[in-house]
Amino acid sequence: MISCGKQRAELASWARGLEQSALQQMLIATSRPGIISFALGMPAVEFFPAEALAEATACVLSVNAGVLQYSPPLQSLKQHVRELMKRRGVNCREEQIFLTAGAQQGMSLLSRLLLEPCRSVITEELIYTGFQQVLEPFQPHVLTVSTDAETGMDVDAVERHLRGGARPGFIYSITDGHNPLSVRLHPSKRARLVELAEQYRVPIIEDDAYGFLCYENPLPPLRALSERWVFYVGSFSKILAPALRVGWLVVPEELILPLSVIKEATDIDAAPLSQRIVNAYLDTGQLPGQIDMLRTQYGLRRDVMMRALAENFPDAARWMKPDCGFFAWVELPPVVDVDELFRRAIEDEHVAFIPGHAFSVNKRQGGMSSIRLNFSHPTTTQIEEGIPRLARVLKSLLS
Ligand SMILES: Cc1ncc(COP(=O)(O)O)c(C=O)c1O
Repeated sequence: MISCGKQRAELASWARGLEQSALQQMLIATSRPGIISFALGMPAVEFFPAEALAEATACVLSVNAGVLQYSPPLQSLKQHVRELMKRRGVNCREEQIFLTAGAQQGMSLLSRLLLEPCRSVITEELIYTGFQQVLEPFQPHVLTVSTDAETGMDVDAVERHLRGGARPGFIYSITDGHNPLSVRLHPSKRARLVELAEQYRVPIIEDDAYGFLCYENPLPPLRALSERWVFYVGSFSKILAPALRVGWLVVPEELILPLSVIKEATDIDAAPLSQRIVNAYLDTGQLPGQIDMLRTQYGLRRDVMMRALAENFPDAARWMKPDCGFFAWVELPPVVDVDELFRRAIEDEHVAFIPGHAFSVNKRQGGMSSIRLNFSHPTTTQIEEGIPRLARVLKSLLS
């Protein structure tokens, strides 16, 4: 609430109930010094190409002071993005690329473009909380579907909603490296989901924040299957550095103009300097090597976490080996109170994670006996120390 003495400005109705999210509260609790944290979903600082980015920055700033001016989206960066999309198995044109301040802004702009107040959307029950925050101002009717641990989103349930007459503004899909569930959408479900989007003329917002970080058998994203009905969201946050705040959309060409008007209203043209730095870095040709290095290193951390879980967690716990992204999703026996596990893990063993229900769209309707563990940020040594500690608390709760 904004206050001035006893006077208070009247907030928009959707904003009146805003409070710190459960996730933010947990992140504060888990950021105490000495805690081994599997809670945050951040990239590892030690893998940022800091020197190369410093050189790119110096190179950009040495050109002339004009690089500090307001400026239109950088065309040469769009060319680089087009090449990058080819590596992801997607052919697109520069005219279909829209530069954003990260994936988060891309999804926010698309939601503003597609959602009327109270229009429905289709999402899974457990999704990235940042996207739930994007939806909040629109107060949409969220039609949720479940997620299979091995094959991803329940596409039959999506079909049931559409056949039943729902006409959502869009379907949200985290096709690869799902946050928080770490699953990837099965190839047959990819084809079916895109068919449904085309048949019912409902766009899919495909959040591909982790798509370049597949550890084995990368699959092309949904955008490779439909140019018209899949609106692709990409980002340099996980493959370069999140502080740059540079991402992109790949959308039908006619959406570029309305998106640019909405973006102008949002932040004029945020991050033109960052765009130039990313562009100068990409000019050096180092990104493919950087992505290969990240896949190797994060793949190693994932393997260390899988081994530590297998050696320490009780047999009743279940998890899949993630083939993409930053997270492991662990299902615990329903008798375990994950909130109690969270408290005791921090207090007794100084180790942190995020309880699964923090990602539930319908507040505690899913993830009640699951936890999300991040393996990108902790070192292999921290993983090897932290997982047995967490297992100790878990076993004491079970006994
Ligand atoms: C699934 C997912 N989408 C989008 C984002 C936001 O990415 P960006 O930093 O590019 O805005 C995140 C960040 O963690 C994420 O996990």
